[in-house]
Amino acid sequence: MKVIICKDYEEMSDKAAEIVISEVRKNPSAVLGLATGTTPLGLYSKMIEDHKKNGTSYKDVRAVNLDEYAGLDCSSDQSYVYFMRKNLFNGLDIKLENTYIENGKAEDECARYNALLDKLRQDVQILGIGSNGHIAFNEPGTSFDSVTHTVALTESTIKDNSRLFKSIDEVPKRAFTMGLKNIMNAKKNVILVSGKNKAKAVYGLVKGEITEQVPASILQKHNDCVLICDEAAAELIK
Ligand code: F6R
Repeated sequence: MKVIICKDYEEMSDKAAEIVISEVRKNPSAVLGLATGTTPLGLYSKMIEDHKKNGTSYKDVRAVNLDEYAGLDCSSDQSYVYFMRKNLFNGLDIKLENTYIENGKAEDECARYNALLDKLRQDVQILGIGSNGHIAFNEPGTSFDSVTHTVALTESTIKDNSRLFKSIDEVPKRAFTMGLKNIMNAKKNVILVSGKNKAKAVYGLVKGEITEQVPASILQKHNDCVLICDEAAAELIK
């Protein structure tokens, strides 16, 4: 795994934007694997800024998202579809019909999404990490062989995510998520991490034992994985 330690969140977002933008310029119909959460917001605003200033076009780019809460309609402002449109897609010239995410209202979304991912292999997959080492909604204990599946969210993830809801009771208890095998299938994985509260997860990601108890640790086996993190998140690996 290549590790890039940046002085702060801003520099982390710049480095990630360089990778994504150069991929799109090289391959105008690239498949981008995208994540929600707070961490990639800086990257997304830099992609929009570059699109407006330098004209990098996303008109033929395809995007596949990692995960979606189960039970939420795409019109809900807590859904990940809403998040992606608001924070990225509406600022680019990407066609919404080329953006894919699990349908939160579907009964069983997994087979459809796995078939889609077979056709749309991610050229670059953007990832964040949870404080318990989860990637996407693959919580500790998830099989390394998992593909898209439905998960019951852990108390720790519900608590982490409750900051984005009016109250913890509103956080959905289930989600659809790409599995670890779908993530490992990406040609390149770029994992972004910021903040001291993620330092332990970063240690597990880079230097810990490869174990299903730390889902992100499987990335040690990926042949093109880049960790871009700030000083605070890198505290235990320096
Ligand atoms: C989001 C996702 C999650 C987040 C992780 C970190 O699509 O898959 O695994 O990447 O929970 O979230 P933030 O960035 O909010 O700390």
